[in-house]
This record gives sequence, C-alpha cells and structure tokens, in this order.
Amino acid sequence: MLLQIEDLVVSYRTRAGLVRAVDGVSLSIAAGQSVGLVGESGCGKTTVTRALLRILPPNGFIERGRVLLEGVDLTRLSASEMRRVRWRRIAMVPQSAMNALNPVLRVGDQLVETIRIHEHVDAAAAWRRAEDLFERVGIERRRLYDYPHQFSGGMRQRVAIAMAIALQPALLIADEPTTALDVLVQDRILNLLEQLRADLGLAFLYITHDVPVVAELCDAVAVMYAGKIVEFGPLAQVFGSPSHPYTMGLLRASPKPAAEQSELISIPGAPPNLVAPPRGCRFAERCPFADDRCHLAEPPLEAVAPGHLAACHFAADAPRMRQTMATGDAWARAFAGTP
Ligand SMILES: Nc1ncnc2c1ncn2[C@@H]1O[C@H](COP(=O)(O)OP(=O)(O)OP(=O)(O)O)[C@@H](O)[C@H]1O
Ligand code: SF4
Ligand SMILES: [Mg+2]
Repeated sequence: MLLQIEDLVVSYRTRAGLVRAVDGVSLSIAAGQSVGLVGESGCGKTTVTRALLRILPPNGFIERGRVLLEGVDLTRLSASEMRRVRWRRIAMVPQSAMNALNPVLRVGDQLVETIRIHEHVDAAAAWRRAEDLFERVGIERRRLYDYPHQFSGGMRQRVAIAMAIALQPALLIADEPTTALDVLVQDRILNLLEQLRADLGLAFLYITHDVPVVAELCDAVAVMYAGKIVEFGPLAQVFGSPSHPYTMGLLRASPKPAAEQSELISIPGAPPNLVAPPRGCRFAERCPFADDRCHLAEPPLEAVAPGHLAACHFAADAPRMRQTMATGDAWARAFAGTP
C-alpha cells in the first residue's frame, strides 16, 4: 500500500471546547489509485489532508493514529524529515492557486526554486525541467517569465499543478482544486489531472463535494460524515449499490452533471456539533431509516461485500432502503410533520 491511514483522530482546540474534526478515520490508497473523499462541508475532509501533510494550524493536533506512507509513519517524523516528504512524495494542489504562488516572483523562478530546494540540479537544468512541466500542463513555456497575476484562474491552477508534480510525487492530494473556476475551465483541469494520472502513474486523493466529479475521476470512494468514514469501496459498488443512507442521500441530491450545480448536498437537516457528538449513529437525526438502536449504539464500519464497507446498523438491508429511496421522497415521508 502506498498510503495507509489508521484510526486517525484529529482535533482543534476552540473556545467552545475540543472539536474532534476527524474521529477514527482509516483509509488506504494503492500506488496509482485514485480515491475520492466526499462529504458535505465541515465533515473533516481538509483536516484529513492537513494531518497527513502535517500542516495543521496551531490549534490543531493529531490525537491518535498512524499515517503510513510507503511504510513510514509520517506522524512520527521530525519537521525536517517531513519537509523532505512533502512535495517529493506527497504534493498538494490547493483550492486556489493564489495560496500556492508568491505574487512577487515570476512563476518560472518559483518552479525552479521548488526543484532546487529538493534536488541538486543547476539552475539551467531546473529551468529546462520547468519548461517541460509547463508543456505537460498545457502552458506555453514563454509564460514562465510571467507573474501569477498575469494568468487567468484556470491557468494559475495549471501552474499550481506543475508545481505539485515537479518532483514526481507518488501521491497527489487535490482539495477542491476546481471550485474557484468556471465550469468549462473546471472540465479542462479535470481532464488534465486525469491525463497526468495516466501518464505519470500518480495516486490521487481527490477531495470534493461534487459527486459526478468523483464518478469521473476515481477508482474508489470514501464517504465522510461528521468526522467519520461511513462508506468506502470501489466506485462502482459505492455509487452503484450504496449501503449507507447518507451515501444514498448524496447520490439522490446529485442528479445533474457537475456543470449545472455548485452545492450538491440537499439532505434536510445539518450535521451534529463535533464538540459533543451524539453517542449513537451520527446520522441518526437526519436518517429516514433511524430507529431506537441507532440513537443508542454507534454502528461499526463493516464489510457489506469484499472491499466495500459501510457503517450502518441496517447495511444488510440496503437493497430495501435503496428501493424506498427510489420510490418517492423518503425524507419527506420520514419527517412529515416535523419542522
Ligand atoms: N482551524 C480550526 N479551528 C477550529 N475548528 C476548525 C478549524 N478548521 C476546521 N475546523 C472545524 O473542523 C471541522 C472540519 O473542518 P474541515 O475544514 O476539515 O471540513 P471540510 O470537510 O474540509 O469542509 P469544506 O467542504 O467546507 O471544505 C469543522 O467542524 C470545522 O468547523
Ligand atoms: S445506523 Fe441507523 S441512523 Fe445510522 S445510517 Fe443506519 S439506519 Fe440511519
Ligand atoms: Mg475543506
């Protein structure tokens, strides 16, 4: 396995108390595999990536768990050892390239600097690499002499992608890399990422709340809810035979292609407060299938088929739940009369 996250718990200290943003997440990614991480805003997706890159803000910390990259536990590396892993083995495409680029430096110089910090190559060789990288991401090489503000949003995102692949990492993390862009440009960036994955054999951790994008780009998908993974497995199984009601809700909320919508989640209600989460199933308040047991006991993440896991007391009954979902609005029926 390239990356193995084991029972990761990540918290933030806040005035209201400890926010346990990631609560016992386990996830693995094989070399060359593309895994999508989906879930609505605030469920902990970005916190997972910050923890594995060790770039948590000062009030955030890893409480528990291991992050094994090629067998090495990243949570135990010193800051300087971790700097060697970042960019070289795991790189990140940020949501907005503006965060990754220095506005007062020409983008070519930034690329060269990134390469030379990590590798002993002379400036001329690094510049040639930068030219190749630009070609790879579809930008004319003369634009290496331009400053970030001279690029459009989409082009800047290409520059950020060139930076991310500069040192040939094994894993690329992309956290909502296209949300800031308009639809046509989004499409082109997604095509570029797909192309790079095929050409370079990169593994991907692709974070989004855009279900159709995951369907297009990923081999496997992890569905996160309120700090936990509630369903995980091969794309065809998780999206074709969802076994957790939350996944069913996500898919139902997402009938249109990515192009036509910005916010995809429309399951009634809101996730629980992560300072004091409920003791049973975290989805129980919003789940049309919840019964007493769901409010009392937390459902474990268990196999429903080989490689396909779900955390629902009634996962074995998923076909019936899917049937109910398909024949009308399960939510409207379950919550009829409640405000
Ligand atoms: N610096 C912080 N201090 C305190 N709480 C934080 C901090 N960053 C995030 N959180 C909280 O941690 C939880 C998870 O946040 P996170 O940003 O990981 O979610 P996300 O799934 O990436 O959301 P989005 O889709 O909006 O990007 C949320 O409840 C959020 O309010
Ligand atoms: S355990 Fe109960 S509340 Fe949670 S998702 Fe399953 S049916 Fe719904
Ligand atoms: Mg996020």
